[in-house]
Amino acid sequence: MKEALRYLAGVAGPSGYGSNSTAEQVTQDCSCPLPSHHQLTAIVTGATSGIGAETARVLAKRGVRIVVPVRDLKKGAQLKERIQKETPEAKIVLLEIDLSSFASIKRFCSEFLSLNFPLNILINNAGKFSNKLEFSEDKIEMTFATNYLGHFLLTELLLEKMIETAAQTGTQGRIVNVSSVIHSWVERDNFYFNQMLQPKKLPMIMKEALRYLAGVAGPSGYGSNSTAEQVTQDCSFLRPSYHPLTAIVTGATSGIGVETARVLAKRGVRIVVPARDLKKGAQLKEMIQKESPEAKIVLLEIDLGSFASIKSFCSEFLSLNLPLNILINNAGKLSNKLEFSEDKFEMTFATNYLDFLCLVPGKFLKSIAQGASTTCYVALSPKTEGVNGSYFVDCNESRCSSLANDESEALQLWNQTRAL
Ligand SMILES: NC(=O)c1ccc[n+]([C@@H]2O[C@H](COP(=O)([O-])OP(=O)(O)OC[C@H]3O[C@@H](n4cnc5c(N)ncnc54)[C@H](OP(=O)(O)O)[C@@H]3O)[C@@H](O)[C@H]2O)c1
Repeated sequence: MKEALRYLAGVAGPSGYGSNSTAEQVTQDCSCPLPSHHQLTAIVTGATSGIGAETARVLAKRGVRIVVPVRDLKKGAQLKERIQKETPEAKIVLLEIDLSSFASIKRFCSEFLSLNFPLNILINNAGKFSNKLEFSEDKIEMTFATNYLGHFLLTELLLEKMIETAAQTGTQGRIVNVSSVIHSWVERDNFYFNQMLQPKKLPMIMKEALRYLAGVAGPSGYGSNSTAEQVTQDCSFLRPSYHPLTAIVTGATSGIGVETARVLAKRGVRIVVPARDLKKGAQLKEMIQKESPEAKIVLLEIDLGSFASIKSFCSEFLSLNLPLNILINNAGKLSNKLEFSEDKFEMTFATNYLDFLCLVPGKFLKSIAQGASTTCYVALSPKTEGVNGSYFVDCNESRCSSLANDESEALQLWNQTRAL
C-alpha cells in the first residue's frame, strides 16, 4: 500500500526522482557538451513511437548521437524531423531493422559497424505484444522473438563494439533493457521455459493470454469477450412484480456499473443505485427505463468516502423495507494525488477498501515523458555509473520478481538462447 501511495503521490526515492519525474527532468544535469569526435552514441530500438520516441528526443537534446533502428524508414524520417525541429544540431542516424528476424538484425549490425561509430549506450526498448499466435520468419513465437531474442542477438553482436568504445574513451558503456512491472505477474507454476523455445507448445502464461484475447470459453461456457447480456440470457427472473430480486449496485453512474445495472434491470432485478450525484443517478434511471420501462430503479445518495454518508444511506435503504438479495461493490476510485477522506483515511483506500487491483491501471496513467524517465535516467545519469545488473522502477533501484532473479532459470535461459 505504501508503494502504491508513493507511486501515486510521485514521492521521490533515493535518486531524488519519483514516478512523476519526466525524462527531461531526470537528465537535466546530463548534457554532454563533448567535442563531436567524443560525442556519446546511443542505439535506441523502438524509437518510432511511445517511450522510445521520447527517449530518443531527450537523449538527442542532451547531445547524444542517436542511431535509430526502424522497420519503417518513413516513420524514422518523421521522428528525425521532429527531433531536429526542436534540436537542430541533433545527430540522428536511421538504419533498417526488423527485430523479429535474425537475418535483419545481422544486416543492421554489419551496417552499423561499417559506419565506424563508437557505441556507448544501447537501449533495448522496442516491444510488441502479438495478440494472436504468429511466428517469426525464424519460426519462433513472435512476441518472444521480437522482444527477447531479437534484443539478445542485437546485444551479442554489438557487445564487442561497446567494449572497444569503453576502452578507447574511458567511458563505461551502458545497456538498458526496458521491461515492465507486468513481469512480476508471471507465476513460477505457469512458467515453462522449455516450451517457450518450441513454437508448437506455448507456455501456460501465453496460453492464458491468448485464451483471453481470443475469448475462448471456459467451463462456464463464457469467456473474456462474452457480454453481460449474453451471460445472463437465461437468468430472467420472472417473479411476481411485488417480489423481484433486489440488488444494490455501487458505482452505477458510469462504466461497468452502468452496464451491470442496465442488464440486471433488464433481467427483472430491482436496482438500488447509491449515487454521489443524484442528477447522474436520474440520467441512469431514465436510460434504463427507456429500454426496460418496467424496470424498478431506486436512487439514494451516498459518498463511499464518508462513513457518515454510508450510514445515512444504509438507514435510508433499511427504512424502505426492501429485501436485499444481491450487493455489488463495484464503485472504485483512483485518487492520483494524496488526499484524505473526511474520516482522515487515504481517499482511495477509504472509497474502495483495499480493492488493490483498482490501483493497477494507475501504472498506465503516466505520461510518455514520465514513462521514458527511467530509461533516460539509467542511460545518462552519473548516479547510475558502474551499476550493473540492476532493475529500476521510477528512476530508483528496485527488486524484480523472485522468478526473474532466479539464477538457475537465468542460466538455463542464457544457455538455451545461445544454443538457438
Ligand atoms: N507503454 C507502457 O505503458 C509501458 C509500460 C511498461 C513497460 N513498457 C515497455 O516500454 C517499451 C516501449 O513501450 P511503448 O508503449 O512505448 O511501445 P510502442 O509505442 O508500442 O512502440 C513499440 C516500438 O517497438 C517497435 N517495434 C515493434 N516490433 C518491432 C520489430 N519487429 N522490429 C523493430 N521494431 C519493432 C515499434 O516500431 P514500429 O513503428 O515499426 O511498429 C515501435 O517503435 C516496451 O518494451 C514496453 O514493454 C511500456
